[in-house]
Amino acid sequence: MTDLLSASGDAANADVDVLVVGVFSGEDAPVLPESLAGVDAEFGGRLAEQLAALGNTGAAASLTRLPAPEGLHAKLVYAVGLGDAGDLDDETLRRAAGTAVRAAFGEETVAIAFEGDPEATATGAILGAYKFEGFKTDGNGDAAPGSIAVYGAGEDAVAKSRVVGESIALVKDWVSAPANLLRPPTFAIEIEQAAVAAGLEVEILDAEALSAGGYGGVLAVGGGSSAPPRLVRLSYRPEGARKHIALVGKGITFDSGGYSIKPTAGMWEMKYDMAGAAAVVGATIAAARLGLDVNVTCTVALAENLVSGTAYRPSDVLTIRNGMTVEILNTDAEGRLVLADALSRAVEDEPDAVYDVATLTGGQLIALGRRTMGLMGTDAETERIRRIGDATGEHGWPMPFPDDLVKLMESSIADVSQCAAGLKRDGHMIQGGIFLSKFVPEEIPWAHLDIAGPADSDSAHGYTAKGATAVPVRTLVALLEEHAGE
Ligand code: BES
Ligand code: MN
Ligand code: ZN
Repeated sequence: MTDLLSASGDAANADVDVLVVGVFSGEDAPVLPESLAGVDAEFGGRLAEQLAALGNTGAAASLTRLPAPEGLHAKLVYAVGLGDAGDLDDETLRRAAGTAVRAAFGEETVAIAFEGDPEATATGAILGAYKFEGFKTDGNGDAAPGSIAVYGAGEDAVAKSRVVGESIALVKDWVSAPANLLRPPTFAIEIEQAAVAAGLEVEILDAEALSAGGYGGVLAVGGGSSAPPRLVRLSYRPEGARKHIALVGKGITFDSGGYSIKPTAGMWEMKYDMAGAAAVVGATIAAARLGLDVNVTCTVALAENLVSGTAYRPSDVLTIRNGMTVEILNTDAEGRLVLADALSRAVEDEPDAVYDVATLTGGQLIALGRRTMGLMGTDAETERIRRIGDATGEHGWPMPFPDDLVKLMESSIADVSQCAAGLKRDGHMIQGGIFLSKFVPEEIPWAHLDIAGPADSDSAHGYTAKGATAVPVRTLVALLEEHAGE
């Protein structure tokens, strides 16, 4: 993995392959910050003029590559636009750093000199350096830079960005893994190894333990696969911590839809239906490695939704861990069933708040697209996630639970219906949230994050590569930091 370093002094002295400088928007030419005077001097005081001639006036996310003049130790200079100096925020820095690092694949050493908060720059840089290696036998193109030094970043900022960057890389590797190589038992073992390395307590419930514990949702959904389901629990208990936060994730290692089978077109994408589980595990590991002053229990339900003689059917009635019965109408709405069990278990510990993350509904993608999570739950918690997500650049938007949709989830033969009566698609994403709300006692603060769209990016932009995004790991880490301070 790319090494993140701190740098200080004049960027003109950076001895690297690529020196990345941040420039602000100007009228006809970019505006150079004072700190680049030394670099500009080596360009004969004409850096802004040269950039303008190449069409770069400092607009956010613009990137211009220049050969470095003789007086610099660097080989290349990349000028990245940071937009208006007065509007500079962390997300602009993260995106600019990520854009520059993605452009520097194939180069060995990079240094970045930006104004603003160096921690944001470091985070964008390490995120931009991620690449899924894949399985090409002859290697897979240009590698990420071996090291990135960030001017002005202290050791603490670098250490924190490193920890978060490593968790995110782990999450992306899991999410990108093909479904034949990451089935529930293997995924459980990989989670255990990563968690133990971070000093966490781990408990793994196998099919037998799930049966004994009454986890009817996980067992039904995982029942069609020869690779049996697992429920994995991670505990982080720092001494003296006051609050206890429960994180819960959907870990469907492959979602064929089951008997309510999906069309071929998008089915292959369903290897990423465990992105919620990966994200909560990644955030829990990061919290432990950062030593956050908050207790965290992470519960993930891992299952593979396949078709076979032992698979569950539409019309089945299941009994969830909390004793509630559910009428099944569509075996493709499996995520809410494994989450019902996982949430039921999580709230038994009486946490101060519970957050679940899931690629739950195609409706989320239709309603909000690929860059906005659907947020449901208690008002204060959905609002909290929206606010923190705006700061991290992992945006979300709160959804209502209107009476008519609540009514649609009633069953005539069980405590609750898995899907709307008659499989009505009205408020599809919200139906999922309403179903989950039955498994969280009203007095527990709760948010459900539907990441069906944001878990995966269909293009590369800023610090985001095409493919797995690891959203909302950074939001969860910031959330746990906030609880630690309360
Ligand atoms: N894993 C899918 C949701 C999904 C769909 C995520 C597209 C990402 C992209 C989920 O298990 C599912 O199949 N949901 C169904 C629910 C329906 C059958 C009630 C859906 O959204 O269509
Ligand atoms: Mn499904
Ligand atoms: Zn699914």
